[in-house]
Amino acid sequence: MKVVVVYESLWGSTAAVARAIAEGFGADARAMSTAEASADVIIGADLIIAGAPVHSLNMPSEQTREWARVGHMGPGGAPPDLSHPMMRTWLEDLPKGTGRAAAFDTRVKPWYGWGAASKILAGLRQAGYAPLARPRGFHVTGHPVLPRTNGVLANGEVERARRWGAELAQTMAHPAAR
Ligand SMILES: Cc1cc2nc3c(=O)[nH]c(=O)nc-3n(C[C@H](O)[C@H](O)[C@H](O)COP(=O)(O)O)c2cc1C
Repeated sequence: MKVVVVYESLWGSTAAVARAIAEGFGADARAMSTAEASADVIIGADLIIAGAPVHSLNMPSEQTREWARVGHMGPGGAPPDLSHPMMRTWLEDLPKGTGRAAAFDTRVKPWYGWGAASKILAGLRQAGYAPLARPRGFHVTGHPVLPRTNGVLANGEVERARRWGAELAQTMAHPAAR
C-alpha cells in the first residue's frame, strides 16, 4: 500500500504532526513536504493524508505567508520556512487519482470550527480521492488572537497524531473502508 503524508509547515509543527501520523500508520507511509510530493511521487497513492497550518481561518495564502515573513511570528521571532509550495497550490496542481483521502491542520484555537483541514479534504476530493475520515485539528500553543508567540505543539499532540495514523491504518485495512 502506498500512503503519502504531505505537509506545508512554516515553523515545523505541521511537519512534526505529519511525521507522527506516518509513524503511527506504519511502514507503508512516508511524510514529505509539498515540494517533495511531486506528481511522480504521488502517482498511484492509495491514501493521501495532507495537512497545513490554519492561517486566518483557512489554508495559508500568499498574503498570510507574507504576514508571517514580515512579522517573524514564529517561536522567539523565528523567520518562517517558505521554501516549499503552499498546500492550496499543491492541491490545484494535484493530478487526478483514485485513492482515499484524509486531512489535518494545526491551529492555536482548538475550539474553532473553521480551519484548513476541511478545505484540504475538499481539494483532495476534487482530485478524485474519496474521504476516509473526518478532518482533524492539532493544537499549537500561542496567544489566541495574535499568533505572534505560536509555533510549539501542545502537550500530547504528537501522541494524538500517532494514534490517528494508527486509526487510519486500521480503517484502510478494513475491507469496508476500501
Ligand atoms: C498569518 C497567520 C495567521 C494565523 N491565523 C490563525 C487562525 O486563524 N486560527 C488559528 O487557530 N491559528 C492561526 N495561526 C496560527 C497557526 O495555525 C500556527 O502558526 C501554525 O499552526 C504553526 O504551524 P507550523 O509550525 O507548521 O507553521 C496563524 C498564524 C499566522 C502566521
